[in-house]
Amino acid sequence: MTIYRMKNYDDMSRKAASIFYAQLTLNPRSVLGLATGSTPLGIYRQLIEWHRKGDLDFSDCVSINLDEYKDLPPEHPQSYFYFMRQNLFKHINIKPENSYLPDSMAEDAQRECARYDAVIEQSGGIDLQLLGLGHNGHIGFNEPGRFFEKGTHVVTLADSTIEANKRFFESIDDVPRQAITMGIRCIMQARRIVVAVSGEAKAEAVKACFQGPVTPEVPGSILQLHDNVTLVGDEEALSLLDL
Ligand code: F6R
Repeated sequence: MTIYRMKNYDDMSRKAASIFYAQLTLNPRSVLGLATGSTPLGIYRQLIEWHRKGDLDFSDCVSINLDEYKDLPPEHPQSYFYFMRQNLFKHINIKPENSYLPDSMAEDAQRECARYDAVIEQSGGIDLQLLGLGHNGHIGFNEPGRFFEKGTHVVTLADSTIEANKRFFESIDDVPRQAITMGIRCIMQARRIVVAVSGEAKAEAVKACFQGPVTPEVPGSILQLHDNVTLVGDEEALSLLDL
């Protein structure tokens, strides 16, 4: 595993974005696994800036997002569909037909999960997957549990995740209780993974994921078994690691 210990959020964002820059430059047809949440915002801003300068072209790439809240319509400002549009897609030249998110409104959620796994497979698999880390060590919305769920699945969000994400909603009651998320197998099959972390509040999760036992109770700990993971964090988020 490669670890980049950056001074602050902005440096972390630039460094993580530079890995996407390299990936797209070397292979413009890359399949990118994307994440939402607060952490990637700086990365996306940087990618947009490089695109505006003419240095990054997204026209041939494919994007596949990790997850989506269940039963939240795409036009809802807190849906991940909306997030991706506002914070990345509408500012770059990725083709709408090349960017995938789980369909939160699908009537048959199980079928939607199978469809999403097929999308990933038919794309040829993810070349570069971006991950944030939940405070409880979740990746995507793979919450702590007794086993690792492999494929795309419907998940009931952990109380700690609902608590952490209430900041985006008017009240905690408005936070969806369920989501559709890529499973651990899809994530682990990505050829390269970049984990972006920032802030002291993530320090314990980072320690548990990267220097604790590999256990489904800390889903991100499975990343220790992947042979091409780059952890990019600011000093606060990496402060508990023995480096
Ligand atoms: C988002 C996702 C989540 C977040 C994690 C961290 O698509 O899959 O795993 O990456 O909850 O969120 P932030 O960055 O808001 O701390």
